[in-house]
Amino acid sequence: MTQGFQAKTYISAIEPYVAGKPIEETAREYGLDVNDIVKLASNENPLGMPESAKKAMIEAAIGCERYPDGNARLFRDAVARYCGVTSDWVIAGNGSDELLGLIARLVLEPGTKCVYSQYSFSVYALSAQENGAECVEVPAKDFAVDLDGIAAAIDEKTRLVFITNPNNPTGLILDKQAIERFIASVPEYCVVVLDEAYIHYMAPEDRPNSIEWVRRYPNLMVTRTFSKAYGLAGLRAGYAVAQPALIEMLNRIRPPFNMNLLAQAAAAGCIDDAAFLDRVYAMNREGVEYLQKGFDELGLRYLPTWGNFILVEVGENARQINQELLRRGVIVRPVNSYGLPTWLRVSVGKASENERFFQAFAEIIKA
Ligand SMILES: Cc1ncc(COP(=O)(O)O)c(C=O)c1O
Repeated sequence: MTQGFQAKTYISAIEPYVAGKPIEETAREYGLDVNDIVKLASNENPLGMPESAKKAMIEAAIGCERYPDGNARLFRDAVARYCGVTSDWVIAGNGSDELLGLIARLVLEPGTKCVYSQYSFSVYALSAQENGAECVEVPAKDFAVDLDGIAAAIDEKTRLVFITNPNNPTGLILDKQAIERFIASVPEYCVVVLDEAYIHYMAPEDRPNSIEWVRRYPNLMVTRTFSKAYGLAGLRAGYAVAQPALIEMLNRIRPPFNMNLLAQAAAAGCIDDAAFLDRVYAMNREGVEYLQKGFDELGLRYLPTWGNFILVEVGENARQINQELLRRGVIVRPVNSYGLPTWLRVSVGKASENERFFQAFAEIIKA
């Protein structure tokens, strides 16, 4: 008897991505009002989108009967200006997730390896698995990415390495010099993806000039997103910068019109909105300090974060604590799928949201 369709074995082995719990779903399940729910689960920007993005998007919206520019010319020009390169060094993505997937599709196949750190973004493993490559997860050192360990894990079969700065879900950062030494040590047949999704949350003086490294290393690709500091998660906008030879290869497998018209306009409109980014940065640091102080008062361990989220250790009852938070209308992120079953990841919200979370959390912890 036929079994129906046959998915590739390495695809049917994939464990699906676990996203933050949506507000509507939580409201339905717990009988709550959607307007009374605080979501601190997906590292979104509580300030919303900048006016610069909104204005550009509204102007573009009247042209939605047309396909977007398949080459995302205006968007890529804006990114190129912002990064100080020419637009042939830039590829547009339907979120940076898409670009992580595309680079994996470009260089991975059965028989090859993909290396990344323990406690890193789950899309890295997924994108390797869907191409039948072997995943090599290098143990973290004290929760931090161990660059020496990653370098040691690279062999002649390794075609792709992911590193993240700042890292999700830990929030930890890497030292600039250490990153460059690492990139320089990677053989040219292996692509290094430096994922800078949270770069605008790092202290300005610690942010590396990663585009300079792209100029020097033909096997380096830097990815960034508009989903976090720019507040455009729902639109799906991201980009990668790499040398033109690599970008040109990626373009061969990029779906036509992958970045929609509104996303192109909004992202181009806000990419150099420094005033907005400064506000986002300052508000995030205030939120981080508030939450850290609260965790200190409760005697809980947390990791020192440079993202817009904090990983806090709550112990064996993490699942129940999460349930209790949901019952009170607060959504945070359990991180058992990241191998951190005793921790919760809390995104930093507006002051009122952080307070609402903390009140509920403290009540549960003290009970
Ligand atoms: C480390 C990291 N990289 C990339 C992304 C993907 O972002 P997007 O696809 O929204 O651009 C995320 C989103 O959570 C992330 O945490």
